[in-house]
Amino acid sequence: MHILHIAGARPNFPKLAPVHRAVCAAGWRQTIVHTGQHYDVAMSEQFFDELQIPEPDENLEVGSATHAVQTARIMERLEPVLERRRPDWVLVYGDVNSTVAAALVASKLGIRLAHVEAGLRSYDRSMPEEINRIVTDRLANLLLTPSRDASETLRREGEPDEEIEFVGNVMIDSLLHALPAARASGFRQRLGADGETIVVTLHRPSNVDDPVRLTAVVDALRQLAQERTVVFPAHPRTRERLTRLGIDTAPVRLIDPVSYIAMLDLVQSAYAVVTDSGGLQEETTALGIPCFTLRANTERPITITEGTNELVPDPAGLLERVRSIGSAWRGRSPEGWDGKAAIRIVEALAKRGASQGT
Ligand code: UD1
Repeated sequence: MHILHIAGARPNFPKLAPVHRAVCAAGWRQTIVHTGQHYDVAMSEQFFDELQIPEPDENLEVGSATHAVQTARIMERLEPVLERRRPDWVLVYGDVNSTVAAALVASKLGIRLAHVEAGLRSYDRSMPEEINRIVTDRLANLLLTPSRDASETLRREGEPDEEIEFVGNVMIDSLLHALPAARASGFRQRLGADGETIVVTLHRPSNVDDPVRLTAVVDALRQLAQERTVVFPAHPRTRERLTRLGIDTAPVRLIDPVSYIAMLDLVQSAYAVVTDSGGLQEETTALGIPCFTLRANTERPITITEGTNELVPDPAGLLERVRSIGSAWRGRSPEGWDGKAAIRIVEALAKRGASQGT
């Protein structure tokens, strides 16, 4: 059996790591293709190091561009790689442009495609990720879902039962694996963060691209920072927008993007998290840390119904919501968020076997 993994952007890497380990344990052949969507050391290489993912076998080095250009570049450069390597399965992760580009190429070459994190929907097509999710799920031959509601969504959309496998959440595999190292890293102490600190991440176009919205979001964070330390590791895209618009963030502590282990240490000890990231909604649920998502919707509703997540569509309401945190603020970790999702993925692939005659 030969598995070829596609990874390209930061949130892909903690999903790839446990699956790579589980495939290794199964003794199968595997290949890693990095599209180069993310390329800064802090957005990519550092994640590979900390998550102990081996160097990619191929790097397509596509870099940043408009959606169409980036997607097209990945497709153009990936096609000859897949033709040459002819794996039994292509595994794609999450909902980034690298995911959908690879899904299109693999399907057209007739190579079987498995989607890790299938079935998530925000029902908001202004999000590029929603389009990526829908297209990838339509094309995939194996839909590996992180939660039962995601499997239900796919059934409702007409996907055949035999293509859907509820495996649980691979992000939580990585989290549980790295938690001891994160706690021992000393990162939060070096930063002066403690159990009263609020950790912020924001990078979605809907929050950072419109100057009026971005100003309102920063105003809300500055209010919070009057009461508690607010640490904000800023995505390069967010940093660039803030600088260009000359928005003053003080007393919020804006820092450069941090590594996976450092972020986990900050989040596991935080008073609360304010974010628009999908991964952080899940990680805070698994850790039982209150999470305020500055969005009108989420493709991960289970983090609200079972976890610690709450949507805050209007940043003006943020201070009041954070003040409302009380001792009753508890969630539970959803089914299958148990550190064994990658093992179940390997089982699902093993059940279907290698492709015949290739
Ligand atoms: C991408 C994903 C998003 C994910 C996010 C996590 C898509 C459509 N979006 O958004 O789902 O949540 O990654 O980070 O795939 N940049 C750098 N260095 C890098 C990479 C990017 O400086 O290593 C800057 C560039 O200015 C670039 C901008 O960030 O234009 C946006 O990068 P891009 O990969 O297009 O989208 P993200 O906002 O990172």
